[in-house]
Amino acid sequence: MKRLFPLGMLALLGAVWGIAALSPLGTAAEKDAARKPENAAVERARKQIRTLDHIYKTTVVLITDKYVNKPDDFPAGSAAVALFKSVTDAGHHKVRLIDATGMPYEKANVARDDFEKEGVRQLKSGQASYEAIESVDGKPHLRTVTAVPVVSKKCIMCHPHYADAKSGAAIGAISYSVPIE
Ligand code: HEC
Repeated sequence: MKRLFPLGMLALLGAVWGIAALSPLGTAAEKDAARKPENAAVERARKQIRTLDHIYKTTVVLITDKYVNKPDDFPAGSAAVALFKSVTDAGHHKVRLIDATGMPYEKANVARDDFEKEGVRQLKSGQASYEAIESVDGKPHLRTVTAVPVVSKKCIMCHPHYADAKSGAAIGAISYSVPIE
């Protein structure tokens, strides 16, 4: 029995020392995780952006195809800008429709920060998309820009300079920022 006490004390001390020694490591590991998210979490964010991109682009094309026939009809571009503002303001994810030609219809719809400017450069050089991981308020976010080509002759009705774009070339982009969770 006598020996149990020192052994117990040793175990207790070991546990306390272990916690004390491990906790700074734990905090460092947590910080590292915020900076460098797991591959599976990044892949989930990518998948989410692919899904959103499909829904948003299909919606804009369908609206243009079915409802926009004259230059004074309400443009799908304007509907997209309003929808994206609502989604962004609600805090779901950040999304913007931007120009890649240097001649935006609306001057606010242009690449704003270094990421978007580099993204537009990459899309114009032929990439379908461009991405980067950024920390926003200590949380990792996946940022992606995807190409918007001239998908219909109707686009040229309101954006006459799109007539000069090569088939399939990016005349615009959708810019996303999605939390990696
Ligand atoms: C009926 C006119 C009209 C048609 C047709 C139209 N757009 Fe637009 N587009 C606009 C207007 C107006 C804006 C500005 C919307 C805003 O900021 O509220 C805009 C904005 C955009 C933007 C954002 C950059 C900018 O120029 O402001 C892109 C990219 C875009 N349109 C692509 C397209 C594509 C691709 C098509 C064909 C599928 C298309 N548009 C068809 C009127 C039109």
